[in-house]
Amino acid sequence: MSTISPEEYILKNRKKVTIRSALVKDAAQVVKLMKGVIKEGPFTLYESDEYRSTAKSEAKKIKRFKEAHGKIYLVAEIKDEITGFISFDNWDTRRTTHTGLFSIFLKKKFRSLGIGKLLIKSMLNWGKNNPVNKKISLAVFSTNKSAIALYKKLGFKREGCCPRDMIINGKYVDSILMYKYTK
Ligand SMILES: CC(C)(COP(=O)(O)OP(=O)(O)OC[C@H]1O[C@@H](n2cnc3c(N)ncnc32)[C@H](O)[C@@H]1OP(=O)(O)O)[C@@H](O)C(=O)NCCC(=O)NCCS
Repeated sequence: MSTISPEEYILKNRKKVTIRSALVKDAAQVVKLMKGVIKEGPFTLYESDEYRSTAKSEAKKIKRFKEAHGKIYLVAEIKDEITGFISFDNWDTRRTTHTGLFSIFLKKKFRSLGIGKLLIKSMLNWGKNNPVNKKISLAVFSTNKSAIALYKKLGFKREGCCPRDMIINGKYVDSILMYKYTK
């Protein structure tokens, strides 16, 4: 079972945000949020017509992450609106279960308020206290300067670069791999 106790914070715009474990009932909002981010263009591995998640499949994922020891799925909620989420997915074998990758996405209008930082800090804190986790990694497009700046600020170090990892609008884009030890 992998969950956190809900945490409340006041944002730069003075709104109250709750960081909590995702619940099955959040699935439809998360999928809608993701569709919006994908439509923006530069942030995701897939394009709109390639995104297959539905409220039902996301609900299954939320349940699976809750039941796994080495995974965590958190959302940021303002009133009843899911403004963003982070999901950390560890690998499956005994030799790799201590590590994995996270993804983080926020609705456009809720960015630069500190929510991303709070979600990542909550995930890192979970990792620190989790018996399985030792290391958290991520992959980010080399073009995503503000996300890279945020990860650096939170202590993530560069692990490597996958050159020409993607072709976006006809142009090659590298992936930067970053990591942080949780213990
Ligand atoms: C990336 C993302 C998760 C960040 O969340 P956010 O809530 O917007 O970011 P925050 O407001 O928490 O933090 C931004 C921090 O990075 C800093 N930052 C942003 N751009 C920066 C830049 N170019 N140089 C230096 N610092 C920068 C800010 O100063 C801020 O730090 P501070 O709070 O200490 O001032 C969010 O913007 C998002 O969802 N973007 C679109 C999807 C995406 O890129 N996902 C990540 C894919 S790997």
